Amino acid sequence: MRSLIDILDLSVSEIEELIATACDIIDNPQKYSEKCKGKKLATLFFEPSTRTRLSFEAAMYELGGNVIGFSESNSSSAAKGESVSDTAKTISCYADIIAMRHPKEGAPYVASKSASIPVINAGDGGHNHPTQTLADLLTIHREKGRFNNLTIGFCGDLKFGRTVHSLINAMSRYSGIKVVLISPNELKLPSYVKKDVLDRNNIPYTETESLEEAMPELDILYMTRVQRERFFNEEDYLRLKDSYILDMDKLTNARGDLSIMHPLPRVNEISVAVDDDPRACYFKQVLNGKYMRMALILKLLEEAKK
Ligand code: NCD
Repeated sequence: MRSLIDILDLSVSEIEELIATACDIIDNPQKYSEKCKGKKLATLFFEPSTRTRLSFEAAMYELGGNVIGFSESNSSSAAKGESVSDTAKTISCYADIIAMRHPKEGAPYVASKSASIPVINAGDGGHNHPTQTLADLLTIHREKGRFNNLTIGFCGDLKFGRTVHSLINAMSRYSGIKVVLISPNELKLPSYVKKDVLDRNNIPYTETESLEEAMPELDILYMTRVQRERFFNEEDYLRLKDSYILDMDKLTNARGDLSIMHPLPRVNEISVAVDDDPRACYFKQVLNGKYMRMALILKLLEEAKK
């Protein structure tokens, strides 16, 4: 059974196909409005979410399908001690496809081993978030028209930011990519990502604490929130939470064609004044996420038939 746990579960050409489907959905939504008639998506969210859960739900409704699920672990049998694997077996009796978010790294993978329907990782702890990456890739495709020859700055919580880990994996398969890692010392990109992804694919990267210094060379700036829920103590969070605040002043030295991305939610790290700048792409990313999730649901349900 084909699931999506890690962005690298999809080949480069499969990502191209998903982008082509998403673009066709954007142009011809009515063509897709009954494609999932009679099908059910189960959204199993053991962690808070606004965009990811609701965009999965909107995606399924726009495909003519239905949605069941829960958005809080304490309203599910997990609160009684049920294992992820038993939950997955149970939901396989009710639904055709699962989108699961879980605070524990690897939980959607465990679910996919027991489920008899496709499982989509909708974010597992500080590890991965492949469907946010699909949203990011459609955004890069639409804004930049290419995946090659891009200098991408990742700024903020690179340690716990799962969207960063997944997007770095995805971009590592293209040529001419340069990465600039902008973070406080305590929130640096984990060394396993540096070694297994950047070094292994010979992607040049630099690390800096200064957003201002990095700014002029960037084609894309990927801002992130400091991930409060993954900190061991509140003092460290409070000390680090406002490490970077992107405002119009900091954009003085930026390229005119910079694309400013953010997976959202934003807390303080982008001033609202930036929202009106044509370089701000983060609300477009939200919409792109829905289209890519539609394309993904279609693909996985099609493959499940085989
Ligand atoms: C991200 C996540 O959940 O990892 N949000 C999202 O799904 N768009 C980023 C975050 O929570 O900071």
